Amino acid sequence: MILTDSPDELRAFLEQARRVGRSVGLHPTMGSLHGGHRTIIRRAAAETDVVVVSIFVNPLQFGPGEDFDAYPRDLERDRAQAEEAGADVVFAPSTAAMFPEEPQVTVRVNRLADVLEGAHRPGHFDGVATIVTKLLALAGPCHAYFGEKDYQQLVVVRHLVDDLSLPAVVVGCPTVREPDGLALSSRNAYLSATERSAATVLYHSLLAGKRAVEERGVSDVAEVRAAMTVVAQREELFDLDYAEVVDPGTLSVPPKVGAEVRLLIAGRTGKARLIDNLAANRQED
Ligand code: PAF
Repeated sequence: MILTDSPDELRAFLEQARRVGRSVGLHPTMGSLHGGHRTIIRRAAAETDVVVVSIFVNPLQFGPGEDFDAYPRDLERDRAQAEEAGADVVFAPSTAAMFPEEPQVTVRVNRLADVLEGAHRPGHFDGVATIVTKLLALAGPCHAYFGEKDYQQLVVVRHLVDDLSLPAVVVGCPTVREPDGLALSSRNAYLSATERSAATVLYHSLLAGKRAVEERGVSDVAEVRAAMTVVAQREELFDLDYAEVVDPGTLSVPPKVGAEVRLLIAGRTGKARLIDNLAANRQED
């Protein structure tokens, strides 16, 4: 396996790989790899010839007062995990290597960045879209793998690739959960033992929404939202930011629950800001 911090070396290596007909799979990460990342890397390894895992804690997507400095970093551990899961290249550039000068050109995400996570984290999705564009440009035509856990990010990246006609195929990968339902996330590392057990409330809240849609056939969006909110607010250690019902493609709140909706939740447990989501399918009357 190759470990490089050089964008030029990465580009040259992948150009050569493509020249001899090898397909490239890219899984962009911010490191602190866990079972969710490993599942994605294994899938990329099954579907493409050369699997690149990028590890870059992207300063452009953190707002003032967010956890950029605290974000867990352990390159040696990440390298070993990526290799074990089947990565061929780990690309772990420094900020100076990615941005030798302050960038004068960035990508701006429109309406999709104003809602949900975007409303709570101004500028976040512009930062994500900018770095993903750069990573795709460096890796070249490829399959790019993203977790559904960051559902809004996945929708933004799909639009980024479509709207800017970037030569990549975006592959969304199902969320990996602990046995008690907690979605795997690098930020779970911030949780104390009591906060960790409180954090299952995100999943339980989503399940309450899903049951309302799928078992009780609720078509009123406010009623589904309320079913989620009631569960979320029962947990004292969880501070809810939003529990929402959206169209899975546009992320807009539909006038009525349609055949397919996405339920999303976000909030804070101790120092950790956690997000999760689930699909819900309604039998149309
Ligand atoms: O999902 C993440 O870890 C990051 O947002 C990403 C896609 C690697 C961009 O920095």
